[in-house]
Amino acid sequence: MKFHIVVLPGDGIGPEITGATVDVLQTVGKKYGHTFELYHGLIGGAAIDATGVPLPPNVLKMSRKSDAVLMGAVGDPKFDAPGTKVRPEDGILALRKKLELFANLRPVKTLPMLVNATNLKPEVVEGVDFIFVRELTGGLYFGRPKKRWQTPKGWRAVDTMTYSEPEIERIVRVGFELARGRQKKLVSVDKANVLECSRLWRQVATELSKSYPDVELEHMLVDATSMRLIQNPKHFDVIVSENTFGDILTDEASMLAGSMGMLPSASLAGVPQEGVRTLGLYEPAHGSAPRRAGLNMANPIATILSMAMMLRYSCGLDREAQAVEAAVIDVLNEGYRTYDIMDEGKKQVGTREMGELVAGKV
Ligand code: IPM
Ligand code: MG
Repeated sequence: MKFHIVVLPGDGIGPEITGATVDVLQTVGKKYGHTFELYHGLIGGAAIDATGVPLPPNVLKMSRKSDAVLMGAVGDPKFDAPGTKVRPEDGILALRKKLELFANLRPVKTLPMLVNATNLKPEVVEGVDFIFVRELTGGLYFGRPKKRWQTPKGWRAVDTMTYSEPEIERIVRVGFELARGRQKKLVSVDKANVLECSRLWRQVATELSKSYPDVELEHMLVDATSMRLIQNPKHFDVIVSENTFGDILTDEASMLAGSMGMLPSASLAGVPQEGVRTLGLYEPAHGSAPRRAGLNMANPIATILSMAMMLRYSCGLDREAQAVEAAVIDVLNEGYRTYDIMDEGKKQVGTREMGELVAGKV
């Protein structure tokens, strides 16, 4: 089969991790008889430098027409000043919003050979395996008004958290559907003891649970969830939350996998269904790590595993996705590690080498 893939390396370590991942992808193509036609584009700080905007119109157009978008990371400290008008992050936010990629799936697994790479006790993390479903196109990230202005008493700022019933329903439904194919346990995260948006969230989730009598729904406050994630992460099977809570909790959850460099993600425009190919954006959950850029250091595994999710959800290639995931496990079992998951007696390799090792095993 033939697929059109848009590749957006972005900033910092982005070009290195996507480069390693594209090598693995092309090896999958050769081995399994598929053609992946790649279109490279600019996003984030790299796009601002070259074109003045973080998401050039032709990149958006190409992405709409593609089977999937594979992204590295965006973010560059030179745009960090509070006064900056356009930011690299606006590129990825616009892409998510314009393609209506409301469902962000972040699977969290503690692989047995990486138990020592985590900061937690082995008995706490051994066997952790859940999927975090983060709402991606609403809430504080996009709500209006959103601004900063001067008043006689100094500056003031406002961000707006807003959610509608259909927005909540469609993302909680993704949670229920995924739970149905797993351990049938869904935790819905909110702050219903304080926030009105969360009260609506809880109401909609409770109502929807009537259509999923086979799935056990548990409501959990966001502060309690952050505690439970490190106290007893094996409690979780599928977690669903609004955008900002999901951003924060998934960084925390990545520590269960040993490193941010291990956490993949898929952003989809609908419920993933077997046999149905959906347009998706695939990117590691981590950032552009500017301090590691250009050093052939960064861990490409989160991006490689994101690409495996791409094969599964956007290309309908489940067997190939499994081959990539198994290849990653093989390479780790053989003792190869990037610096972030390095452990005594293991063999430290760089970004490129890790990519080559995985490609050699697919
Ligand atoms: C993530 C990132 C992004 C987000 C940034 C880069 C805008 O932290 O994907 O989790 O906040 O969504
Ligand atoms: Mg984040």
